[in-house]
Amino acid sequence: MINMLKLQITYKQRLITICLFLLALFFLNFSNHISAEDADPSLPEGYVLTTLITGANRGIGLEFTKQYLEKGWRVIATCRKTGTAEDLRLLQKEYPDRLIIDRLDVRNHKRIDVLARKYKNVPIDVLLNNAGISGGTSNQIFGRFNYDAYNTVLETNTIAPLKIAEAFYPNVRDSQQKKIIAVSSSEGSIDNVFKRGGRLFFYRSSKSALNMLMVNLAYMLKDRGIAVGLVNPGATGTDFMSGLPAFFPLRKTEDAVEDMIRNIDSITIENTGAYLNYNGKTISW
Ligand SMILES: NC(=O)c1ccc[n+]([C@@H]2O[C@H](COP(=O)([O-])OP(=O)(O)OC[C@H]3O[C@@H](n4cnc5c(N)ncnc54)[C@H](OP(=O)(O)O)[C@@H]3O)[C@@H](O)[C@H]2O)c1
Repeated sequence: MINMLKLQITYKQRLITICLFLLALFFLNFSNHISAEDADPSLPEGYVLTTLITGANRGIGLEFTKQYLEKGWRVIATCRKTGTAEDLRLLQKEYPDRLIIDRLDVRNHKRIDVLARKYKNVPIDVLLNNAGISGGTSNQIFGRFNYDAYNTVLETNTIAPLKIAEAFYPNVRDSQQKKIIAVSSSEGSIDNVFKRGGRLFFYRSSKSALNMLMVNLAYMLKDRGIAVGLVNPGATGTDFMSGLPAFFPLRKTEDAVEDMIRNIDSITIENTGAYLNYNGKTISW
């Protein structure tokens, strides 16, 4: 009899322990889920701020993904090869309910349309055009220009952000923050050419044209309440800069992205069309 009683108590104790454990798990998950709304009481109840990022598997795009997740946002992280996006997979283990990984080569307009249909009715607060290529220095030497490489640079850096803005416009319109952002470069500034010298014809012109497209969009979408902006990370130590000599001063990716997120936060309908350096100052066109 005493043995039976002991068994019953042990069973009850186990049951209570399991219930308490499940309850703790529920609250942990719940607090993770609502942290974004907690941070901003002006958002509708249950609303989670969302960003869609291109080229999110490495470099600046990956860091954007990390930092927006840390801020409590939902991230739709897109990249060309989801199968080999190890760092994104690791992040997904940490944020299973807020990180979505999807396949997107930004030069593939059909795929952009497929994704826009897939995410129809999902508000996107910050549409973040980050994917970009330099085109390779050896392809951009006067007298030996590689025009196929130039086409690829334009398709990636210039045309894709416009196509993506067009395809995901309803998602941005129906969101709370309503921002279309492109990662540009101070190399896109025509003014800077006379200070820095002639180089990188393809890359520079692709970013200048990107700037022009985004300012056009800013003008057109202002009345619809959508803010458009351009941000510059500064020379940052990603694969993008891997060809440079070791002594060349490069910024930490974490710092570059922290600065750009602060600048994205500062872009509103009042300063739409802004072209912001990492330190928050306007870059001259
Ligand atoms: N790093 C700098 O110093 C610096 C300075 C100024 C501006 N920026 C700009 O910052 C952005 C990010 O550069 P980063 O430094 O992070 O360069 P990165 O390390 O070379 O990464 C580039 C990213 O873009 C992706 N990408 C390239 N072509 C793509 C395509 N067709 N479709 C989808 N994704 C594509 C790459 O994907 P894969 O892995 O599939 O190749 C990768 O995720 C670029 O727009 C760049 O122009 C960088």
